[in-house]
Amino acid sequence: MMDDFGFPVSAGDFRFRGEARTVRRLLRDKKRNGTALDLGSGVGYWAEEFASQFSQVIAVEGSQTLYQALKTQCAPYSNIHTIHGDVLSFEPGGPYSLIFFGGLLMYLDEHDMKTLLQKLIPCLEPNGTILCRESTVRNETVTRNGNYSVVYRSVSDYTRIFKQSGLTLQHIERNEPYVLTQMGCELIEKWKQVVPEPLQALEIVGRLTYWGMRLGTPWITRLPQVLGIPFPCLENHFFVLRTGPIVHE
Ligand SMILES: C[S@@+](CC[C@H](N)C(=O)[O-])C[C@H]1O[C@@H](n2cnc3c(N)ncnc32)[C@H](O)[C@@H]1O
Repeated sequence: MMDDFGFPVSAGDFRFRGEARTVRRLLRDKKRNGTALDLGSGVGYWAEEFASQFSQVIAVEGSQTLYQALKTQCAPYSNIHTIHGDVLSFEPGGPYSLIFFGGLLMYLDEHDMKTLLQKLIPCLEPNGTILCRESTVRNETVTRNGNYSVVYRSVSDYTRIFKQSGLTLQHIERNEPYVLTQMGCELIEKWKQVVPEPLQALEIVGRLTYWGMRLGTPWITRLPQVLGIPFPCLENHFFVLRTGPIVHE
């Protein structure tokens, strides 16, 4: 994906390392010696990350191609168990200390999302956590149909659905490493729209844009907010959820 924008290969690693630091901080005071369930695990970056923090990780992935990559990636970890299947028909078992959604909910419509969350709630340990890392939009929820069907929900829509599913929202935080990369992607998309393809020089412009953004970290992601500019169009947020009434820690 980073190639399409002319970003260096290390851009993906940089983003993941930043996100992993945030996730470690968000889970700092949580019980972590049980089992983590990673739903829509992709090739398993998060499963690997959780393997060093939890006794056991169960990673569920629906795509056959990604599942094969997940199996290979997680083969060195004796405490990761991989499952190929649709999360909607998956029998969750449990109990889990953590249930993690790393970009899965955007592929589910509201009914399926609520059904899944309600199915998972009884599988969470009493002090367990549900952590979501999901793409978001500022205004109205955007639904895209076609080859790539996806729902980009607003933070308020996520908040409402979590509440209606019986969950308590403990904390919301914008995913700054994601937003940094997304700013770069949207700038390059604009460049591609205005500059004819033979002149785009993505290898150079992409890298200059990326390293420019990196040099401006962490202020650059806050600048549009300070100036009141709705950029980038797509954001991403972490949602920390639990069952039962909120406990202030
Ligand atoms: C945006 S990717 C995120 C992958 C991974 N969590 C990460 O952060 O790198 C979402 C993943 O969810 C998987 N997925 C989408 N719908 C699913 C479903 N109903 N059941 C199982 N996996 C699904 C996709 O195949 C994809 O790997």
